[in-house]
Amino acid sequence: MSRVTEIRYVGYGVVDFDAEAGFYADVWGLERVPSDDGMAWFKTQGHDEHHVVRLRKADENRVDVIALAAPINADVDALAAQVRAGGGKIVHEPQALTTPGGGYGFRFFSPDGLLFEVSAGVARGPSRQLAQWEGVPEKISHIVLHSPDHKALVKWFCDVLGFKVSDWLGDFMCFLRCNSAHHRFAILPGPPCLNHVAYDMLTLDDMMRGAHRLKQKGIDIGWGPGRHTAGNNTFSYFVTPGGFVAEYTSELEEVDFETREATVHVPAPLVMDQWGIGTGGPQTLPHPHPNPGLFVAIEA
Ligand SMILES: [Fe+2]
Repeated sequence: MSRVTEIRYVGYGVVDFDAEAGFYADVWGLERVPSDDGMAWFKTQGHDEHHVVRLRKADENRVDVIALAAPINADVDALAAQVRAGGGKIVHEPQALTTPGGGYGFRFFSPDGLLFEVSAGVARGPSRQLAQWEGVPEKISHIVLHSPDHKALVKWFCDVLGFKVSDWLGDFMCFLRCNSAHHRFAILPGPPCLNHVAYDMLTLDDMMRGAHRLKQKGIDIGWGPGRHTAGNNTFSYFVTPGGFVAEYTSELEEVDFETREATVHVPAPLVMDQWGIGTGGPQTLPHPHPNPGLFVAIEA
C-alpha cells in the first residue's frame, strides 16, 4: 500500500447547518458522534472509522477539509516531508490532534488550495456487521475532485502522496488507488473543488434500498442507478440540502495495488454507465464552481 492508506472524513462548512445535519442523520444513514465543539460529526455503523463527515456552521457552503489515514506516526512525518519537498504549503506540522478521536496529523493545501489532513492513531469507533437490505453506508468509498490542471494534480497525488493510476477515462478523468480498491480518488478537469463523495453499500440491493429511503424522504436520484466501467462499481448520485453531491456505490473492483496496469476507457454513453437505464447524468448534477476559501486555513 501507499503511505496514505484510506480516506477518513470530509469536513464541510454549511449555511443551513440543521438541514445538512438532518440529512446525514435521518436520510443518508449515518450516526451522530458526540462532541462539544459546536460541530456535527457523523460515522457509519458498518465501519470503525471514528467519523466520516464533519459539519461546521459557515457563511457559505464549502469543503473545509479532506482527511486521509496513514498507518503510523512515522508515515505522517514522512508524508509531511514529501509534501514540503513537493512544494506543498503546510498549514500545521505533525502534532497531536485535538479533534474527536485524537491522533497525530498534519494539514496542508493541495496544489489547488484545498485543505487536506493526514493522520495516524485516530481512535477507532464502534462498528457492527451490516445485514443485506439495511441500505445504510458501510464506509466512504471514494472522493472525486475537479482541478484546473487535472494532469498535474494526478502527478501530485502519485509523486507526493503515493497513489497509483488505475484507469483513465479518455484523457480527462483519472482514477487513483492507495490500497486494493480500484480507486479512492478520481480527478476531473474544472475549477478547484469537490465533485462528489461516494459511500460503499454492502450490496447492490443496499444501494437500491438506500435510494428507496431517499425517495421516501423526498430526494430523487440525480444520476443513476447505473454501473460505471472504470472500477465496475454501481452508482446512484444524490444532492444534499447544501448542494453537495453524495453517491451510494457498491461492488467496486478490487485490484492488486502494486501490479495493476492502468487502462484507458474510451468515453461513450455505455462506458459511463454500462446499464444505460438510469435517470439524469453528470449534466443534471450541480455544476462545479471554485471552493470558497482556497489557500485559507480554517481555525477548526
Ligand atoms: Fe463516484
